Amino acid sequence: MSSPPWWQRGAIYQVYPRSFADGDGDGVGDLRGLRAHLDHLADLRVTAVWLSPVFTSPMLDAGYDVADFCDVDPVFGTLEDLDGLITDCHARGIRVVLDWVPNHSSDQHPWFLASRSSRDDLRRDWYVWRDSAPDGGPPNDWRSEFAAAGPAWSHDEHTGQWYLHSYTPQQPDLNWDNPAVEAAMHDVVRFWLDRGVDGLRIDALQRLGKDPLLRSNAGSDRRHDQDWEPVAHERLRGIRRVVDEYPDRMIVGEVYLLDQRRVVDYLSGDDQLHMAHNFVFLHLPWDAAAFRHVIAEFEALAEPDAWPAWFLGNHDHSRIATRYDDGGSGQARARAVALMLTALRGTPFLYQGDELGLPDAEIPPDRVVDVDGRDPGRAPLPWRPPSLAGPGAGFTTGEPWLPLAREAEQLCVESQAADPCSTLSLVRRLGGLRAESAALRAGDQHLLDAGPDVLAWLRTGPGERLLAAVNFATDPRPLLVPGIPGARCAVLVSTDPGRTGSPVQGGTGSPAELVLHPGEAVVLALVPDAPTT
Ligand code: GLC
Repeated sequence: MSSPPWWQRGAIYQVYPRSFADGDGDGVGDLRGLRAHLDHLADLRVTAVWLSPVFTSPMLDAGYDVADFCDVDPVFGTLEDLDGLITDCHARGIRVVLDWVPNHSSDQHPWFLASRSSRDDLRRDWYVWRDSAPDGGPPNDWRSEFAAAGPAWSHDEHTGQWYLHSYTPQQPDLNWDNPAVEAAMHDVVRFWLDRGVDGLRIDALQRLGKDPLLRSNAGSDRRHDQDWEPVAHERLRGIRRVVDEYPDRMIVGEVYLLDQRRVVDYLSGDDQLHMAHNFVFLHLPWDAAAFRHVIAEFEALAEPDAWPAWFLGNHDHSRIATRYDDGGSGQARARAVALMLTALRGTPFLYQGDELGLPDAEIPPDRVVDVDGRDPGRAPLPWRPPSLAGPGAGFTTGEPWLPLAREAEQLCVESQAADPCSTLSLVRRLGGLRAESAALRAGDQHLLDAGPDVLAWLRTGPGERLLAAVNFATDPRPLLVPGIPGARCAVLVSTDPGRTGSPVQGGTGSPAELVLHPGEAVVLALVPDAPTT
């Protein structure tokens, strides 16, 4: 097995910079704060850090409204701070992935200010402008991704036309049908790769391909405002050609399509994405059969070399511990998720706070910031117990921009680091396990039939045979795995603090058998020299 590329080795950790650590006391996280906490990333053994946007922005969509693609917003620091972060990360062997937002800019971007200034402006065609429909309304029926924003078109009084915005009206869509726009955005990619950035997360990739005729969605069996073939894939190949001008770089796409058939299209060939975030997976209910189905479907649909990016949380969604554990399972499911992501073939993506099993914060109506209700999962990270560090919980010495989760005292990094049974300690162990296991990083994977409510799979590499299993039930379940060679196994990691690490005996020549505790997930080592059944 040859050594896998860096982006396949360990987890990629998403930092939401506003909420990670505040270095200057203004209540908003920044690059200085992040640089001061790189030990935390190293302790998790992550391969790379992905930063949500830190670029110049009026922050109407928390930085996904970019007013200068090639500079850092003062709230986060300076370009020099970002250079320093890249240097510091590289010194620790941690790669840096930036969030590139190619579909739209801020309405304050100089390109859009010029574009809206007059119908004759040289930049007019850098955005998507159209006349009214015959009834005087917007040019077609496309809607903004954000329900609160309504139609995807806003009327500009000054020039008498409508402009397209797939998100908020302050995020006009760039016109990728214009080759000058494509070339300018390619230059943005080069700007960051030249600065030593190792990879890019491509925001809203499915939006880059739209029906050039801008036809309405109604009456069609497919959407015209996204994932339009072959435009979408040609554009992605153009981006990949730029990325491939540099050695050892990676692109992961946000491909927000709830159909794996369409997602895997963005991974096919060697000339598109390295990885795609899979939102079909993210939306799954806590059900073993559902997880099994989606994993098997991905394997069946994707090319054999296609590399999965398993993830169950990011800054746009309610947190894992809230979605899956609120039924009273403590952090059991958040812990099982951490193990599952580590042990599945593919790259695990961890959203900051998932390593703490952090739930959503309660946001009172007068503290709401986001247009789309996403504040609860974006609350600042608690570093220290508020009883010791004050209400900012070590995140800030000032007034945090959003309230922290109520559980900060017990769930903060400092409290959990001191407890070997904590979720943080578990996630650190999982990082170490993956770092030490070639089978987990790059081995083959086989889903097993392990009885109802149990998801189980084998990972095999030279001299290594590991079995991972998750009990989705709230009562104990035997792990019945017929046909697994090897009579003996040892528990390498369990998510249940009550499980001792002692070896588990199965009958000679019979399947390994173990009773999984309620909600427990395990990685077992099958003894390599055991007789084959
Ligand atoms: C992506 C981002 C989200 C943002 C949107 C528009 O979905 O993850 O936070 O609002 O794109 O850029």
